[in-house]
Amino acid sequence: MDPKFTNGFINQLRGRSIFLIGMMGSGKSSTGPVLAEILKYKYVDLDELIEKLTKKTIDKIFIEEGEKYFRDLETQCLQEIIKFPSTVVSTGGGVVLKKENWGFLRQGIVVWLDINQQVVIERLDQTKSDSRPLLKGKNVKLMYQEIFEIRKDIYAQADLRVEINNEGVKSIAEKIIRALKEKIKN
Ligand code: S3P
Repeated sequence: MDPKFTNGFINQLRGRSIFLIGMMGSGKSSTGPVLAEILKYKYVDLDELIEKLTKKTIDKIFIEEGEKYFRDLETQCLQEIIKFPSTVVSTGGGVVLKKENWGFLRQGIVVWLDINQQVVIERLDQTKSDSRPLLKGKNVKLMYQEIFEIRKDIYAQADLRVEINNEGVKSIAEKIIRALKEKIKN
């Protein structure tokens, strides 16, 4: 990306943080660091932060403490993260569920990575992950569709929706920047 273009965009952002939201497997955690690097922003992965603080995997937290406990931690961490400007934050797919979280997300710019369903289901089928207890032992396709059905209108409340297919993370990061630049201009 042309540095002149990127620097102009960084100025336009005026330190506003960027929150990546979207379904599991949509590429929030892989795209976030690349986006942060281009923008010279700090980077936080919300799930990773929770795992570091609790010294447990997300899966273990769900098993031992339950989903509500995890969701409360998610909110508490988000509340801390928004104190830092110029940060790209990759959130967990369910962060949008609590109304309270939107109050925090709205302090930055919310970007929905809207990934093609077929691509993501194949991806999730192939990855065994300790961070996705909601899909564990389930029919990934059915469960994914069920969760997406409940959440799609909530994700749609993002400031920006970026359609994702099978592009690499750098292309996605650049796509986000171009779309955001367009959005901020208007
Ligand atoms: C969740 C998504 C996960 C993780 C947790 C719950 C969800 O994060 O926060 O398993 O409710 O969609 P990713 O979206 O990074 O997989």
